[in-house]
Amino acid sequence: MAQLPRREFLKAGTAALAGMTLSALGLGSITGAAEGSSPEKQVFVYTCPVCGEQFPDFEQLRLHFSGMHRELEIPKTVCLTINSVEYDVFVEDHWTLREALIRAVGLTGNAKQMCDRGGCGSCTVLIDGKPALSCTTLAVECEGKQIETSEGIAADPTYRPLLEAYVRNDTAQCGYCTPAQFTVAKYILNKYDLNPTEDQIRLELSGNICRCGTYARHVKAIMEAAEEMRGGK
Ligand code: FES
Ligand code: FES
Repeated sequence: MAQLPRREFLKAGTAALAGMTLSALGLGSITGAAEGSSPEKQVFVYTCPVCGEQFPDFEQLRLHFSGMHRELEIPKTVCLTINSVEYDVFVEDHWTLREALIRAVGLTGNAKQMCDRGGCGSCTVLIDGKPALSCTTLAVECEGKQIETSEGIAADPTYRPLLEAYVRNDTAQCGYCTPAQFTVAKYILNKYDLNPTEDQIRLELSGNICRCGTYARHVKAIMEAAEEMRGGK
């Protein structure tokens, strides 16, 4: 049976993000969300990786694929739960979660390719509540796990104070590392029950490299958000 070329797999799915309020506060640079995008209103488009025809659900795509492209091998299907939404996606066995996020689901925030080898932290997501490097985690390993990205955290009203503190403190310079730092910030707030010390924040963020040197701003933003979320403001 013929193999589908890898390049064609990369077209397997896209998520169109519609609606929106994030850009109004310039938050796209923090969350990685596209200008004018709405994490609350993600519309997944199931796209045939061979001919590009689009379908409203995965079953129709599967039927189309096995009928129109029966000479090709059907790609592997995994169900990824990302920001509490289940996505059936086509992936190859060797795809990392980072590749699946950006190529199959269309979420760009934490899917940054910096070192792509576990050294910089710019691809950090939360898996079952804990920071994990999406560049060194296979997508097929993530079935049945809860994946959280900056887009989902930014859309959660609970973390609005964190988002606003990130904006207030200009945490994003070039913005490349910021979605991952923001994601780890949520982890820190939960781990330390909204009462982290500055040293604890620095320790937890030590795996996230920022070439622009914004480290102190993240510490300040997280401290401010923690205080507000404790009801101190
Ligand atoms: S891109 Fe994943 S750790 Fe650098
Ligand atoms: S803001 Fe530029 S790498 Fe961190």
